Amino acid sequence: MVEASMESWRARVDAALAVALPSPDTSPQRLHAAMRHAVLLGGKRMRPMLVYATGALFDADAARLDGAAVAVELIHAYSLVHDDLPAMDDDALRRGQPTVHVAFDDATAILAGDALQSLAFQALSLAPVEPVVAVQLMRTLAEAAGAGGMCGGQALDLDATGAATTLTVADLERLHSLKTGALIRAAVRMGALVGGADEARLALLDRYAAALGLAFQVRDDILDVEGDSATLGKTPGKDAAQSKATFPGLLGMTEARARLDELGHAMTDALASFGERAAPLAALGEYAIRRAN
Ligand code: IPE
Ligand code: IPE
Ligand code: MG
Ligand code: MG
Ligand code: MG
Repeated sequence: MVEASMESWRARVDAALAVALPSPDTSPQRLHAAMRHAVLLGGKRMRPMLVYATGALFDADAARLDGAAVAVELIHAYSLVHDDLPAMDDDALRRGQPTVHVAFDDATAILAGDALQSLAFQALSLAPVEPVVAVQLMRTLAEAAGAGGMCGGQALDLDATGAATTLTVADLERLHSLKTGALIRAAVRMGALVGGADEARLALLDRYAAALGLAFQVRDDILDVEGDSATLGKTPGKDAAQSKATFPGLLGMTEARARLDELGHAMTDALASFGERAAPLAALGEYAIRRAN
């Protein structure tokens, strides 16, 4: 039942993304091809799934959720294109494919990321929701993507890269919660806003999403140590090689895993009052903690 929902949401967002992206046959072809490469060649679609799973808690019509699902994935894909650039993490493999700057060139990768970001807000503006809800969605995504969210977290990540780090655990949690947690929280909040959630439910769902967002990056850090490139679709071992601030690096693997378990309990607690209807959100939380890629 949960698996069937996940499969249908994945197919749904994949189809909507393919339609939202500019055609590879129109000019400027190279830019369009780079945007499509960044978005359509793989990816777990975790953030769109969170939009649909949260909206489903409130019986929101999937057609009203498509805009938010597409938009959050476009912002995520843009963040990955820029994250992989030589000036940032300098990665050559992403989703089992050459990264956009390797398949194309740096300038095209920068522009593709920029254009994906604009397209995200265009998609939100086209969603069939009340204008007041559309504005709430745009504000939610803008705040999560910007200096107070993902970009801010990426800036803290760069600050902490290289030199011997003096970060505390609290500093690292903040960094992770911004660079990765902010968009995950936005995905859940957008699903809840489309569903018409009240403040109490928005707050409970935000507790779930905050734990999930942090857990997602802790797991990413663990996989960078333990994973292999065939499974991950990216090159492992990069964090240690670049002296990145990570949970296994700061706390060790045992403590990092213990933190994941704690975050799992925090998710379960936050979802408790929603009962069986929250099964897809619980499954996504569990997946974030146990995933192998
Ligand atoms: C990778 O995100 C970057 C992080 C924020 C940890 P995902 O693990 O969701 O990447 P895709 O979308 O499945 O490729
Ligand atoms: C990236 O974190 C978070 C983003 C905002 C893109 P990482 O740099 O750890 O992500 P990967 O490991 O390259 O996917
Ligand atoms: Mg990075
Ligand atoms: Mg990276
Ligand atoms: Mg990583």
